[in-house]
Amino acid sequence: MSRFTGKVAVVTGAAQGIGAATARRFAEEGAKVAVVDLTTERAEATVAAITASGATAHAYGCDVADRGAVGELFTRVAEELGAPHILVNNAGLTRDQLLFKMSGDDWDTVLAVNLTGAFNCSQAAQKYMVEQRYGKIVSLSSRSALGNRGQANYAAAKAGIQGLTATLAIELGPYNVNVNAVAPGYVATAMTAATAERVGLSAEEHQVAAAERIPLRRVGLPEDIASVVAFLASDDASYVSGQTLYVNGGAR
Ligand SMILES: NC(=O)c1ccc[n+]([C@@H]2O[C@H](COP(=O)([O-])OP(=O)(O)OC[C@H]3O[C@@H](n4cnc5c(N)ncnc54)[C@H](O)[C@@H]3O)[C@@H](O)[C@H]2O)c1
Repeated sequence: MSRFTGKVAVVTGAAQGIGAATARRFAEEGAKVAVVDLTTERAEATVAAITASGATAHAYGCDVADRGAVGELFTRVAEELGAPHILVNNAGLTRDQLLFKMSGDDWDTVLAVNLTGAFNCSQAAQKYMVEQRYGKIVSLSSRSALGNRGQANYAAAKAGIQGLTATLAIELGPYNVNVNAVAPGYVATAMTAATAERVGLSAEEHQVAAAERIPLRRVGLPEDIASVVAFLASDDASYVSGQTLYVNGGAR
């Protein structure tokens, strides 16, 4: 299967976890992949895994919250790999705290990376997508968008992703650009391992407890999310736009 032959995909936060699995999936299906993370060094491991399989990927260091750096990133990607057809806004972080203890910096940082980062990258990418009358933007929301104790900042950012997605779908649809979001539930990555550590559990113990509450009785793997992102970024989903797809093992 090579749904992405001839396509250039930019995946942010792709050094590890869901972003790395998504970058690998695009490469397996024929795309040239821009693997973006905070530093080039962090992105290198994903690039090495992709190039070892014979596919093409380049590592880029960029803080998605930095508008100037994002502009430079897209210029470089277009020069080195070609104009982007696919953008996955995956870079994210958490700074969990109950409201009364949450600092302004906890709030600002989470909004800046998870939400403003997606705005910065979408704005830079749309220029190429509109010009070529083809584009796919998929952003990572979260089940936490519906509300989650200790995550006022993250929930607000991830709910914001859903509003951004619905709006960009309306604005960019006339230029043949599809814009969608994926809202995962619990996925076993460094992010959920850090949550486990905060509550005094090992990553495995935390996953077992989470799995008991999920109808499919297991936590998600990065590949479970990557395959859905790939579907939404493919022409299999060419009439899907403005949607947020919850991928959470059946939890309501
Ligand atoms: N793991 C989950 O259970 C889960 C659930 C719902 C949504 N998500 C979302 O999925 C996405 C990926 O999550 P993950 O679990 O793979 O996380 P992760 O922490 O394993 O990976 C996130 C990556 O983003 C990078 N990153 C952080 N800030 C950045 C910045 N400013 N610029 C560029 N890169 C930056 C990190 O260096 C890291 O490599 C995030 O947006 C997250 O909010 C995760």
